[in-house]
Amino acid sequence: MTFMELWSSLLVLSSIIFAWQYLGIRKTRNAFQNVSGPAPAIAQFFSRDSTDFQSHLAFNYPAVAKLYGMFGRPMLYVSDPKALYTIIIKDESSFPESDAFISMNYLLFGHGLLATLGETHRKQRKLLSPAFSINHMRHIVPIFYNVAHQLRDGLRKQVAGGTEEIDMLNWMGRTALELIGQGGLGYSFDPLVEDAHNEYGHALKNLIPNLVQVPILRLMVPYLMRVGPAAFRRFVLNFVPDGDVQRFKSIVDTMESQSRAIFEKKKAALLQGEEAVLQQVGEGKDIISILMRANASSSEAEGLPEDQIIAQMSTLVLAATDTTSNTLARIIEILAEHPDVQEKLRAEVLDAHAGESLVYDELDQLPLLDSVCRETLRLNPPAVFSTRVASRDTILPLAEPIVGVDGSLISDIPVVKGTEVIIGILGCNARKELWGEDAHEWKPERWLAPLPEKVIKSTIPGVYANLMTFVGGRRACIGFKFSEMEMKVVLSVLLANFTFELTDKPIVWNAAAVRYPTLGRIDNKPQLPLKVRLYEGAKA
Ligand code: HEM
Ligand SMILES: *[C@@H]1O[C@H](CO)[C@@H](O)[C@H](O)[C@H]1NC(C)=O
Ligand SMILES: *[C@@H]1O[C@H](CO)[C@@H](O)[C@H](O)[C@H]1NC(C)=O
Ligand SMILES: *[C@@H]1O[C@H](CO)[C@@H](O)[C@H](O)[C@H]1NC(C)=O
Repeated sequence: MTFMELWSSLLVLSSIIFAWQYLGIRKTRNAFQNVSGPAPAIAQFFSRDSTDFQSHLAFNYPAVAKLYGMFGRPMLYVSDPKALYTIIIKDESSFPESDAFISMNYLLFGHGLLATLGETHRKQRKLLSPAFSINHMRHIVPIFYNVAHQLRDGLRKQVAGGTEEIDMLNWMGRTALELIGQGGLGYSFDPLVEDAHNEYGHALKNLIPNLVQVPILRLMVPYLMRVGPAAFRRFVLNFVPDGDVQRFKSIVDTMESQSRAIFEKKKAALLQGEEAVLQQVGEGKDIISILMRANASSSEAEGLPEDQIIAQMSTLVLAATDTTSNTLARIIEILAEHPDVQEKLRAEVLDAHAGESLVYDELDQLPLLDSVCRETLRLNPPAVFSTRVASRDTILPLAEPIVGVDGSLISDIPVVKGTEVIIGILGCNARKELWGEDAHEWKPERWLAPLPEKVIKSTIPGVYANLMTFVGGRRACIGFKFSEMEMKVVLSVLLANFTFELTDKPIVWNAAAVRYPTLGRIDNKPQLPLKVRLYEGAKA
């Protein structure tokens, strides 16, 4: 097949799909005629520049708003707690993840948690869950501290000369990768000593900014995935004459081969016995080792094949790294914007000796540290939305009625099969009706007082802190506690030894699967420069 033949068959294929879609769209349009929303301009919602639009939608529209998706098909942006509860818990089976999401994740990682549905997903989740239990987190916190102390020493070398401007996102990215490496895979990616280079880390850091650059591929993937076997699809990708797509493919290949190599090593150690396991990084306490042991003692029906275990590795590494590192970078940036809170938090941390090595329960209970994490995760969720697709005609009941286009009150919305619903993570986290008039302001102290009654009574379906940041239900973030402890360890160690100030460079947070900062809107290199200084009290 030549280029031209390939492209023209894809063109024919897309025309058929287009016609098919068009028929479905008319029905959806009629169903949502009464729901208001911004003027149709989907690019606004998904492009790198859409941060402001996403916030506008979250802050200034009713709890259910209408947007327009592919081929002009209306979709719903939902931040009403009762509707969200219906989507991700009560009527979860009517709202699976979209084809686009599942197939893109399959392309990226293979059959891991993010790329499976139904029974396969349930089995994977059952085998993985014990590795994320609180009990297990207690074993992992000391590993986190070791890594954070390496980070501290690495940073200390860089600021030896007083104040230095340092790209904190880069350090947080390396740290988050090393933390999921040691805690998740029992593998060390990066000694965090100086500017070391790691191929896997490099591939990952570029994945999400690269994904924003391949919109066509993202749109085509769900259709492409229906054609032929996997090997054929990989083969087809080779022919896409686009540098970004090729770069993307090489990132995926690097992730896969690195995960496989790590898996083979672990398998060999497990076969050799306990002695060999203890010699490994993390001494066999990492998540994948626990999964492999659980699998070995599971029944034939509940076990997972090798490729699904390898797929969990890339899944975990990717799901853990950018989310946590961008959140950590954002927390540090906010602390630089609020020197008073930074000072108070440092005092709390030093008072508790949290920069040294606390045990899980002590660290988890530092009140201001907890509040700063919660409040930043509330207003700055790294993923501002998630999507689901209605798999049948159904009804979304609302906690509070919304005003329709014709002025009528709507308290139930009929949803047509095939409708895309957007889980408005930011919208629900920042609703004034729930959190009060100051809902859009960053105020960690709100967590030190009882939460508003509305928040507590609304059955917001989030797994964490009445927030939608880690979503909820069967597909909630499995790593939320892991991530929270990671952030607490890193922040307490850094605050005990450094202070952070803003530079005068313009930091912009870009919309993507995970938000990331750049300098201005043109350059696409993720970075967050801050002025870092050794804390006076820590000099001696
Ligand atoms: C601030 C940090 C993090 C945030 C905000 C976050 C957020 C999320 C969200 C929103 C989802 C659901 C996606 C969807 O429904 O579309 C998710 C899923 C997931 N997260 Fe996280 N995550 C974070 C850190 C982590 C960490 C540290 C790990 C691993 C150690 C992790 C592992 C996963 C996995 C495996 C899934 C898929 C779960 C499933 O489908 O069963 N995440 N995360
Ligand atoms: C909007 O809702 C009102 C009240 O339920 C109903 O009378 C009206 O027909 C609806 N309009 C459309 C266009 O569906
Ligand atoms: C996991 O367990 C199942 C069932 O016991 C087994 O068939 C499978 O080979 C195991 N997978 C790995 C990677 O060891
Ligand atoms: C970090 O801060 C702690 C607490 O002030 C101090 O004991 C320790 O010596 C400092 N370490 C470094 C490397 O600066």
